[in-house]
Amino acid sequence: MSKLWGGRFAKNTDVMVEEFTSSISFDQRMYAEDIAGSIAHATMLAKCKIIGTDEANTIIEGLKSILADIEAGNFSFEVALEDIHMNIEKRLTDRIGAVGGKLHTARSRNDQVALDTHMYLKREIVTIGTLLSELQQAIVEVADKYKTVIMPGYTHLQRAQPILFAHHMMAYFFMLARDFRRLQGVWEGADMMPLGAGALAGTTFPIDRHFVANELGFSQVYENSMDAVSDRDYILEFLSCSSIMMMHLSRISEEIILWSSTEFSFIELDDGHCTGSSIMPQKKNPDVAELVRGKTGRVFGHLMGLLTTAKGLPLAYNKDLQEDKEGMFDTIDTLKFSLTVYASMLRGMKVNEKVMGAAVRNDFSNATDMADYLVKKGLPFRQAHEVVGKCVAYCLGANKWLMDLSLIEFKEFSPLFEADILEAIKVETCVDARNSYGGTSSTGVQQEFTMAEQILTKQQAVLDMFTKSNI
Ligand code: ARG
Repeated sequence: MSKLWGGRFAKNTDVMVEEFTSSISFDQRMYAEDIAGSIAHATMLAKCKIIGTDEANTIIEGLKSILADIEAGNFSFEVALEDIHMNIEKRLTDRIGAVGGKLHTARSRNDQVALDTHMYLKREIVTIGTLLSELQQAIVEVADKYKTVIMPGYTHLQRAQPILFAHHMMAYFFMLARDFRRLQGVWEGADMMPLGAGALAGTTFPIDRHFVANELGFSQVYENSMDAVSDRDYILEFLSCSSIMMMHLSRISEEIILWSSTEFSFIELDDGHCTGSSIMPQKKNPDVAELVRGKTGRVFGHLMGLLTTAKGLPLAYNKDLQEDKEGMFDTIDTLKFSLTVYASMLRGMKVNEKVMGAAVRNDFSNATDMADYLVKKGLPFRQAHEVVGKCVAYCLGANKWLMDLSLIEFKEFSPLFEADILEAIKVETCVDARNSYGGTSSTGVQQEFTMAEQILTKQQAVLDMFTKSNI
């Protein structure tokens, strides 16, 4: 097949090289952005009198018919035409004749691919942000459904203090809210229009880059043409934001996996969200959580991959940069799938209130509260800590919990103990007494719910604004 750049070549491209250098197998997913970008470019060329209005209209009609063909599945992408840009341009010229060749005036594939990628990422970020909000919503629902359930809170994976299960879940809500803020920042960073940079140095034609930016819903234009075609920071920001998000999902996964083990038995996942074993008939495996935890690795890998690709590249465009897209696409796919399946898995999860309750009662998680009791009676905290430590040691020897001690036994450790100590170290008291701002008390959790609602409303407003400005 003759190349759009074939003029200076005496020989055909080696078939293996064609295949090696081609990106059409993966960049075809940016067809809609490529066409929208070309339509804006053609409109601008006509407005600036670089091509005729009739010519622009013919080009635009041709591009629209190609879009319809691709969407109807009537377009065959050719490896010999290398990438999405040349596949579309070649088809355009085949369809409308030589005037199609005017579309590439004042443009290069270097600024064209940068434009497509910016637009594609901006669009996908809105979808990812929507799915992220949906997962946050699922977390709120689960927390609310089990809002009175008490469980042990852990540090070092050792039981530490009693908490509300809802408080534990809401920690993930706020973690994901930071992911949303970061994602919002990535969209804002990607909202910069590269077209008009040409191959690297700008163009001799009197173009209007701000017009194109406006047509395509960009609020900013790259100030430097060389930066415009070389910059992949916006993809790196996306990959690093995605890596943090996947790291968060991986942490939730670890707890879901632990909690659904027989040893914990804190939760039970829905049968529809688990898989069995081909050999062990009794097995019910939390594969979704495991796979999300596992997929975190490939997203980290894409971040490292692109950082390494970009490291040491001279200005301006280098073919190395074609390596930016597959990792980005895979990250988008991985995130969208993981977020969707996660929301559904959490919604189907059952919390085993009895087991969680027993775990926190048959335990020394109330030891801090016992020390706090003594502090409120005037004992310095460090001494109170010592007294309770001794109580715990005594209980361990006598095979008792703190709640099992009689007042006489308590008083042997400190005369400050009174009959109200038992009430003070009941797990319900322990939880509700932690009513400092951001603490686990039921009023605290209620405040978290209120705040979560406000955050979700704000996030929706951001998504609406992004949707409006993305074309
Ligand atoms: N397929 C290329 C990429 O993804 C498009 C830009 C090619 N530019 C060039 N000068 N070969 O980076």
